[in-house]
Amino acid sequence: MAQEDKFKNVLSHAKEYGFVFQSSEIYDGLSAVYDYAQNGVELKNNIRNYWWKAMVQLHENIVGIDAAILMHPTTWKASGHVDAFNDPLIDNLDSKKRYRADVLIEDYCAKIEAKINKEITKASKRFGDAFNRDEFVSTNPRVLGYQEKIDTILKRLGKSLSDENLADVKALIEELEISDPLSGSKNWTDVKQFNLMFGTKLGASADNTTDLYLRPETAQGIFVNFLNVQKTGRMKIPFGIAQTGKAFRNEIVARQFIFRMREFEQMEMQFFVKPGTQKEWYEKWKENRMKWHLSLGLGKDNYRFHDHDKLAHYADAAADIEFKFPFGFKELEGIHSRTDFDLKAHEEFSGKKLQYFDHEENKSYVPYVVETSIGLDRMFLAVFSKALEDETLENGSTRTVLKLPAVLAPTKAAILPLVKKDGLPEIAKKIVADLQWDFNIAYDEKDAVGRRYRRQDALGTPFCITVDHDTLTDNTVTIRYRDTMDQQRVAIKDLKNIIDQEVSFKHWLQKIG
Ligand code: GAP
Repeated sequence: MAQEDKFKNVLSHAKEYGFVFQSSEIYDGLSAVYDYAQNGVELKNNIRNYWWKAMVQLHENIVGIDAAILMHPTTWKASGHVDAFNDPLIDNLDSKKRYRADVLIEDYCAKIEAKINKEITKASKRFGDAFNRDEFVSTNPRVLGYQEKIDTILKRLGKSLSDENLADVKALIEELEISDPLSGSKNWTDVKQFNLMFGTKLGASADNTTDLYLRPETAQGIFVNFLNVQKTGRMKIPFGIAQTGKAFRNEIVARQFIFRMREFEQMEMQFFVKPGTQKEWYEKWKENRMKWHLSLGLGKDNYRFHDHDKLAHYADAAADIEFKFPFGFKELEGIHSRTDFDLKAHEEFSGKKLQYFDHEENKSYVPYVVETSIGLDRMFLAVFSKALEDETLENGSTRTVLKLPAVLAPTKAAILPLVKKDGLPEIAKKIVADLQWDFNIAYDEKDAVGRRYRRQDALGTPFCITVDHDTLTDNTVTIRYRDTMDQQRVAIKDLKNIIDQEVSFKHWLQKIG
């Protein structure tokens, strides 16, 4: 299926099966703002809990907090967001549309990358089993030419952005003859910087208000609480503080569904380390976070690291974990070595010391920080889009199945009485009443059982448990597995264990080691 069609399927499935709705849809929606529906909120909560378990509860030296969205406005001066949290914008004078200049250039490179992929597909068809992808990519002159062009463009873009040379960004757009994707016009304005923070006001009367910002990242709530947590938790370096919560950005290019939203949720962890050890911890967290992703079994080939050429104002090293979304490889998570930039800046702006007394070294210092930062909504999209399959069955029919990792599935099991009579619904409801203490369980008695199986497949429910007439005499039920569609007869008393083994955090997370 073409990438575009796959993505359209993801969008319509998310809506039709109660995962994600456009915000305020009855008023024609609000651009790049979304609501999670009855199944979406369960999946989102499960992803958040999977992260929290792995990052906080399974690490003795990491604790969690939940800081407020509204913070003292000086926070954002200190963090650099007031001065430097900008996107380079360009307007097209004919279409009157506004674009992110860097995204126009990156999209241009993505088109060259598509050409590389075409060459690879052609060659793999030609050579069959003998095809060696790595060798082809590193020797084929056409592929090498394309790759060199991408590298040169991105290097120049990175340099122009970090030098704040916006004239060169425009020059690059003109040299590459990039046109407005909608109108085809090349009539561009100069490139300008645009601050992404949403402003709001605190106070009741017009002449007595304070300008505030909705936080654009959760990280600053951790930095300003660093000493409170360190002291009250008696934390010893190295240690981490984690939190999940909403962040807000006035994104210019708000598209690709929940990939780039104006209100979204982050799961961030700041790891405080001794100065000089940050490189080692940066590598460790890169490895650990990749293992967390791989533990979900979505396929190793769907992830890759992308080391940054252009570093944010606070970082001395940074990498993205990219995921293969239906629209190509894009950033899913960032791992940043943030140096002592934030704590030092908050010291300077607040006039308070934010230092750690190291008993082993017998001295105080401002710790360095390695951050892991993942968008919960992006993780949702990654899992959801990868899981959605239109599968052709042996008899030629197709089924739509959401092969979510069982640990994340919104509903773990659906209990289905074969018919709506003969005491079967009563037994089914008793099973629900027992299992719902441990798992999110659904009950469904409408339609033929085959249709009910299909409905649960589309919702990603890993187990369907059918109560039939044999259940009345032998206390057994049929358990059907979503992915294989295999069916097995099991005792009702064993259900809890069977489900637990497949959906428990332990089963999935112990792979990380
Ligand atoms: N504290 C560091 C920080 O915020 P970032 O790379 O700007 O770094 C981290 O954001 C993660 O947050 C990204 O990797 C992405 O998953 C998510 N994210 C950022 N902007 C987003 C948006 N507009 N919509 C959805 N997720 C977003």
